[in-house]
Amino acid sequence: MRPPGFVDVHCHILPALDDGALDLADSLAMARQAASDGIAVICATPHIRDDHDVRIDELPGRVAFINQEIARAGIPVRVQTGGEVAQRAAQRMDAGELHSVCLAGQTAVLVEPAPGPLGQELASLAARLRQEGLQVLIAHPERHVGEGFERWLAELAAAGCLIQWTAAFVTGEHGHVALRLAQDGLLHLLGSDAHSSHGGRPVHVGAALERLREVCTAQQADWIAYQAPWALLEGRPVESPFF
Ligand SMILES: [Fe+2]
Repeated sequence: MRPPGFVDVHCHILPALDDGALDLADSLAMARQAASDGIAVICATPHIRDDHDVRIDELPGRVAFINQEIARAGIPVRVQTGGEVAQRAAQRMDAGELHSVCLAGQTAVLVEPAPGPLGQELASLAARLRQEGLQVLIAHPERHVGEGFERWLAELAAAGCLIQWTAAFVTGEHGHVALRLAQDGLLHLLGSDAHSSHGGRPVHVGAALERLREVCTAQQADWIAYQAPWALLEGRPVESPFF
């Protein structure tokens, strides 16, 4: 049975917290954008990073609040907990802290690579997180293109990481890069990485999924659109059959 919709695994929808939604009205507008795109679940992934004062222990309450307001507004979307954990922050966090920012309170943690090219430091962190029972999602690789980019992506994927590309990148000017790497099994999840309804990337993943359907098999496109993200939300381990 097909799940009730798409999942946005990377979105800054919580109001007045990090550099995401400005206020509640902005958050609700983002939720409406998501619903209009066929997204059923948004993972709230505020920055867990030195330059943002996001308190991990407050996140469940903030997510409960936004869900209450979304329900009151009659928008058919649910928000789940999560975080976009900067590589350097993750290096300092203990297992308990990392588990508390996993998507939907399960075992998948979204890691934002340090600025610059992907490299050994990220691979070492991913290996440690795997040992602690976490499934590692690598956020927006397109921002970390550099020497050995594709080799590092392949190495991270071989180590069990899932690669989350930004939906707007896939549909953008350089989207062919993501589409080619998807065919090599190096695109596993999509996120909007939306920050506001007032501008920038919208809370959409549908158009990127359509592009993927043009270059991937139907099975792979369905796996990216539904099977992988819903398994993560339900706490089931995810391994790509397409890598
Ligand atoms: Fe982000």
